Amino acid sequence: MSKLLEVNDLKKHFPIHGGLFGGVTANVYAVDGVSFDIAKGETLSLVGESGCGKSTVGKAILRLIEPTAGQVVLDGERIDNIPLSQLRKLRRRIQVVFQDPFSSLNPRMRVRDILAEPLINFGLAKGGSDIDDKVAALMDKVRLPRDAMRRFPHEFSGGQRQRIGIARALAPGADLIICDEAVSALDVSVKAQIVNLLSDLQDELGLALLFISHDLAIVEHLTHRVAVMYLGRIVELTDRRTLFSKSHHPYTRALLSAVPVPDPDAPRNRVILTGDVPSPINPPSGCRFHTRCPFAFDRCRTEEPQLRSVGTGHQTACHLEHAPGEPIAAMAMA
Ligand SMILES: Nc1ncnc2c1ncn2[C@@H]1O[C@H](COP(=O)(O)OP(=O)(O)OP(=O)(O)O)[C@@H](O)[C@H]1O
Ligand SMILES: [Mg+2]
Repeated sequence: MSKLLEVNDLKKHFPIHGGLFGGVTANVYAVDGVSFDIAKGETLSLVGESGCGKSTVGKAILRLIEPTAGQVVLDGERIDNIPLSQLRKLRRRIQVVFQDPFSSLNPRMRVRDILAEPLINFGLAKGGSDIDDKVAALMDKVRLPRDAMRRFPHEFSGGQRQRIGIARALAPGADLIICDEAVSALDVSVKAQIVNLLSDLQDELGLALLFISHDLAIVEHLTHRVAVMYLGRIVELTDRRTLFSKSHHPYTRALLSAVPVPDPDAPRNRVILTGDVPSPINPPSGCRFHTRCPFAFDRCRTEEPQLRSVGTGHQTACHLEHAPGEPIAAMAMA
């Protein structure tokens, strides 16, 4: 599969202004050297606890915020440093669906006009009847009744509004959609319907998805690969099967331990997280996870582990030679 998006050593540091003269007194190291790629038609999930930098990665790709350093390459072309005036073409190809579509859907516009906007802006529809036809086709794609296009956003449920958000992302013919907690606020059954819709659309249209979520249980039903983030860095990157069966990084193990399973008595190497996430203003030395890791040893406190290969398409940033096994997991539970 060819690469659609490449992100190389992406950094976003937010300066904190303070002191008497309002100078920069510190930085929030929100994203601090993140690299991954997404193939055409692939879903990559970005998971991790609140504040680890997931949304910042998405916003930097979209240039809703300017990256501090690194490269973002779309179909072989760098897009992180092109002037904003040249971004139009890119905006058409990369779209975003946020958690709360209500806040991004103009309450005074009917759905038809909300969906017509990108079609007109990108010159994709000619005249009223062509717009109507294309909006009707979008409604079909997201499985909403066509007559719903005459209604206003407040007349829809959360799941239906999310369908409108997805239709708007599809309107300009995007080939990558960034879903930032797109299903997190929905009820379980509605969540599953939207995940199924995204998965169907991916098959139908060959869409690539960057699926940002703090919920591993949802990711399991949809993703091809998963990147686990902790304090601005990717700590593990692998395919879905390997992540759920043979993860290597203790942080991944900890996230998996928190996912509800159908049979709670099934044997699992649980890793229980203790303590809070440290501040991204002053991340811990060495491995950023060492302050919460039950397996940390001296080297972890001084030397930052880089992503290294531990299997085909499986990378981890951890000094442990082997994934935590039975005896170590037992220790963690003690
Ligand atoms: N504009 C900003 N100015 C300063 N700090 C910011 C800004 N935006 C985000 N941050 C900080 O950057 C870090 C990463 O934030 P981000 O929103 O990317 O996390 P997240 O993983 O998406 O979290 P969540 O799961 O809660 O959405 C956090 O510490 C956050 O407070
Ligand atoms: Mg976020």
